[in-house]
Amino acid sequence: MAQVLITGGAGFIGSHTCLVLLQAGHRLVVLDSFVTSNPASLRRVLELAGGVASERLTVIEGDLRQPSSLDRAFSAMAGRCDAVIHFAGLKAVAQSVHQPLLYWDVNVGGSTQLLSAMARNGCHTLVFSSSATVYGFPETIPIQETAPVLPINPYGHTKAAVERMLADLATSETHWRIARLRYFNPVGAHPSGQIGENPLGPPDNLFPYVSQVAVGRIARLQIYGDDWPTADGTGIRDYIHVMDLAEGHLAALEVLWNEQPQLLTLNLGSGIGHSVLEVVRAFEAASGRTVPYGVAPRRAGDAARSVADPSEAERRLGWRTRRDLETMCLDGWAWQSSHPDGFSSQASNP
Ligand code: NAD
Ligand code: UD1
Repeated sequence: MAQVLITGGAGFIGSHTCLVLLQAGHRLVVLDSFVTSNPASLRRVLELAGGVASERLTVIEGDLRQPSSLDRAFSAMAGRCDAVIHFAGLKAVAQSVHQPLLYWDVNVGGSTQLLSAMARNGCHTLVFSSSATVYGFPETIPIQETAPVLPINPYGHTKAAVERMLADLATSETHWRIARLRYFNPVGAHPSGQIGENPLGPPDNLFPYVSQVAVGRIARLQIYGDDWPTADGTGIRDYIHVMDLAEGHLAALEVLWNEQPQLLTLNLGSGIGHSVLEVVRAFEAASGRTVPYGVAPRRAGDAARSVADPSEAERRLGWRTRRDLETMCLDGWAWQSSHPDGFSSQASNP
């Protein structure tokens, strides 16, 4: 049993990863400010993990940027932190354009504080949530990890900056063990429908938007362009089931512990692209609901295609995605239909 600090563990990807790690027998301390999440997610995680899992999860409410919060989290581990998974951060591209300093402060400043606290507490093993956004407009599809890092918005710049900081650290202090995981498009939910994505306000991303249209919370989807150079004219992305992504984190931790690489940089995606229209049709089939849509102009900053080459992750981690688009939609609908208002849905609060 390892002890792992999870920053941002109450969020969408963090909560699913906490469940996978608890089920693997690990002890977790979550540090989260709940700025974009709800503590109810972690109560649900404990219910799903069952039995005595509550003895293996400590939740600390606090901000990553405050050394005192980090010290409380490390104190809860009683001197033994085997690894940190660093999910905490802000991720809304449009907000990052309007509030770049906030994004640099939370995503970069927060990461610097975390790394300093890790060093103070003798923990040098880290999994960092990076994003396919660091590739900007990719030149070649599928995208390999060796593709240029050329982000095109402040959010992407903050992810690239932390990646750079981690590479510099691994070069100068060779006892660090770091995985930089570049997620493609995480969607879906745990198949129980008890935890899932819980955006505050109107969703920015396609999948939660389609889910909320299907459940009747939003009237219709706007498809951002049907004139892209793709087979049906809509944008193509590599959607990855959040449970596959969560399992990828466990695989990365095990490789950092067992093989001791200094710096891993891996795409976590399926390698399969789906168009916006394919997602809409798959969601309609899974939910039995109609998803009304119109066509709007292209969104600034969008690329026609973004699809991972996941072969390096498979080679290094022995991990690959197992769940297809139909499963993503079925599980996403299980969550959305039972929680039309997310964790604040009256009927489903524990
Ligand atoms: P999320 O918003 O659901 O989770 C982020 C969590 O971090 C939340 O629980 C939030 O309360 C917490 N947090 C934010 N700022 C904090 C702070 N200063 N101190 C403490 N806690 C703080 O987002 P998510 O989708 O689970 O994303 C997790 C990570 O993965 C983020 O770093 C994000 O940039 C990255 N990522 C997400 C996606 C995606 O599409 N979901 C894609 C690529 C990368
Ligand atoms: C977006 C971000 C990216 C971030 C990723 C995950 C932008 C420009 N890019 O990527 O930096 O890493 O989310 O958080 O914001 N779409 C619609 N209608 C909608 C929403 C989306 O047609 O209401 C289309 C988009 O044009 C795109 C596809 O659906 O073709 C997927 O969009 P989205 O879910 O926002 O993900 P990304 O564009 O890949």
